[in-house]
Amino acid sequence: MTVLDPTASPLWPALHEHARRLPSLADLLDADEQRYEHFRVVAPRMQLDLSRQRWDSDVRRDLVALAEAAGLDAARTQLFTANRFNVSENRAVLHTALRAPAGERIDLDGMDVVIAVQDALARMRDLSESVRTGTWRGATGRAIRDVVNIGIGGSFLGPALVCDALGPTSGPQVHFLANIDGEEAARLLPRLDPTRTLFIIASKSFGTLETQVNARTVRAWLLERGIATKDLRRHFVAISTNIPAAAEFGLPEANLLPLWDWVGGRYSVTSTIGLPIALGHGFRAFERLLVGTRAMDEHFRDAPLSANGPVLLALVELWNQNVLGTESHAVLPYARALELLPDYLQQLEMESNGKGVRRDGTPVTTRTGTILWGNVGTNGQHAYHQLLHQGTAPFSAEFILPLDPGHALAEHHRWLAAHCFAQAEVFARGRGQASVQAELQAKGMTPHAARAAASHRAMPGNHPSTLVLLDDLAPESLGALIALHEHKVFVQGMIWGINSFDQWGVELGKVLGTTIHDALASGDDAAIRDTITRDLIALFRARAGSD
Ligand code: F6P
Repeated sequence: MTVLDPTASPLWPALHEHARRLPSLADLLDADEQRYEHFRVVAPRMQLDLSRQRWDSDVRRDLVALAEAAGLDAARTQLFTANRFNVSENRAVLHTALRAPAGERIDLDGMDVVIAVQDALARMRDLSESVRTGTWRGATGRAIRDVVNIGIGGSFLGPALVCDALGPTSGPQVHFLANIDGEEAARLLPRLDPTRTLFIIASKSFGTLETQVNARTVRAWLLERGIATKDLRRHFVAISTNIPAAAEFGLPEANLLPLWDWVGGRYSVTSTIGLPIALGHGFRAFERLLVGTRAMDEHFRDAPLSANGPVLLALVELWNQNVLGTESHAVLPYARALELLPDYLQQLEMESNGKGVRRDGTPVTTRTGTILWGNVGTNGQHAYHQLLHQGTAPFSAEFILPLDPGHALAEHHRWLAAHCFAQAEVFARGRGQASVQAELQAKGMTPHAARAAASHRAMPGNHPSTLVLLDDLAPESLGALIALHEHKVFVQGMIWGINSFDQWGVELGKVLGTTIHDALASGDDAAIRDTITRDLIALFRARAGSD
């Protein structure tokens, strides 16, 4: 398989040439009063303001041409039909089928995946409704009051993001048990009534260590608290592609919801992995999430590349990183409801595109993947924004602001929006030393003192940012926001020529972790090669002991 090397394209030096000729962001903003209109993209449930990116229409044109040269037009169509994008695992990539309307047909290896999805959705609806209406009862005949999702990575971050964003549940309380750190289980379990709790084992592989250990701990906890083995089925359901392993855990077929290998873990929030959303907020809320993702899917598939939200977001961040040289990307939701968005996007972007070889196995020749981090505004302003404004590390940012916050505290929302807009403006324009000095002198400072003080107060600006103005925090908008980023990652992966759908890099640590665990438990460190690790094992055994 030959894969285009973007850096070998004549467009690559042309883009670097653009970067050399472009003035500062402040000058670009001053030169075009209509810049907001020129760089605004309307997409489902949102508008993207790309006017504070350090680019112009020539850069945008050449970036779109780069995407075309990478075959993006055909690739985005293929994302909606049978494909084998995940070459290293020989798997299709079809998370878009999870949101396809009933009746559409997508054949993969002799199976109509839309029918499989619709069947799974019907089972999800029945299960969630039976729990929410109290038809599903625990071992002692009482209705379920708490739901605990046991899962990690993609089997955790998406449902956790959406459940948190939707606020208080209209059904059982939903909790998440992800980390192998016993602190999580130790804090959560005492707060639960075992007779009224339903545990979801969410694991595509049904082999992930953290999930397995947490599930075993929970099963032992239920048994210790008097739930009979035969009644465990009233307290566990599982979501997995690995039905035999789930069955081995002791769950009957009726308690297992399917998942498929053509859904990557980090692309699975709109699959059965979204069950906690349906349980906590109702199946209708989950369906509305699908409506939003579908709307963004269609926009991505059908809109011209030059007016396409996910495409332009991907291109401008590729430009920032590969041409302008930004080193990290801050995701700054001005919405408490989106507090978990940076965590979710870290897996989506960094597990997908943190790759060093292209799809054909040849090394990449430019920086791929993006170091992504962030937290909600305005909290971040009182923490890391100092570094952003006056530090030396180049970054780009993505602000997200819901126009309708879904609460009635209008003054709060005005302040929140004001600070969001202010930060974006200061990132872009900064504040020149001469103007600070003039201001200080006007207030009576001597020129000498004003010059010295101004050097500490000036800020360079010229930091690119996107503002995502989300209509609101309704499930449809959350779905659109999620799909926006899924497709952004896809576009970047296509241009870099990498496989965005495998994650071999996480495997070695898992294997070594198991070897070290065995040595910690047994004291036999013969299998440990690294002398420092051996010393650490000895120290740990001496201080923490073993079972
Ligand atoms: O270790 C990485 C990973 O495989 C992720 O890609 C995945 O989302 C997570 O682990 C959980 O996997 P599973 O759903 O199979 O338990």
